[in-house]
Amino acid sequence: MATSGNRLKAGIGRRLRFLSRYIQRPSVVGAVAPSSRALSAAVAEPYRRCGRRCDVLEVGAGTGPVTRHLGKILKPNDTLDICEIEHDFADILERDVLSSPDFTKPKADGRVRVLRHAIQELSIDKQYDFVISGLPLTAFELSDVEEVFDVIRRCLKPGGVFSYFEYIGLRRTSRVLSVGKKRARVRAVSRYLTTNIREHEFAREKVIGNLPPAYARHLRFETASA
Ligand SMILES: C[S@@+](CC[C@H](N)C(=O)[O-])C[C@H]1O[C@@H](n2cnc3c(N)ncnc32)[C@H](O)[C@@H]1O
Repeated sequence: MATSGNRLKAGIGRRLRFLSRYIQRPSVVGAVAPSSRALSAAVAEPYRRCGRRCDVLEVGAGTGPVTRHLGKILKPNDTLDICEIEHDFADILERDVLSSPDFTKPKADGRVRVLRHAIQELSIDKQYDFVISGLPLTAFELSDVEEVFDVIRRCLKPGGVFSYFEYIGLRRTSRVLSVGKKRARVRAVSRYLTTNIREHEFAREKVIGNLPPAYARHLRFETASA
């Protein structure tokens, strides 16, 4: 049985691996630390409140804080696909996160899958009620953000929900502090996100208990057919 000392060591190890991956690939990892419990819960809240059977896709799971939370709220017969581009993180997810007792039954039933590739390569053979994302959209090129949104819109069921988080003030700070091509990129991505937020956001939660504080945003692109 894992002692609290071992759990602490494993947690610190995951944080250090996350930070070192950020130093190597900042535009892919996009954060210096994994999300807090409060942010993990906020981004998964619409799914938690859903009373029917659901298919869920988590994108950009990293070392798994949101995945852990999803394990606690996954209902019998719900499915969870976890898409993570970085193989080191996918290894951590399989070894440290999916080994939790919360996942024993869902895994035995074949209701949990780890997809080791970019979201842009998702084969649209399955549709989801919820897509829950940790992708660092603000660090992406506009063409990648557009492609990600296109994939997400196509893989959501009618009425499905896209939940993601962004650090408060990050877009504004990056716009002010960056110059040249980077500034043009940040402005274009920010404009695209703002348009989508204006048109499709139905709920937003401010989470102060995260470093840095963040908004969990929830978007719906189409209403469910009657
Ligand atoms: C900001 S971290 C979030 C990690 C975790 N969800 C959390 O909240 O701590 C972003 C994650 O997205 C992953 N990622 C980046 N681009 C991706 C892509 N195109 N497809 C899938 N995962 C991607 C990174 O490897 C990283 O694990």
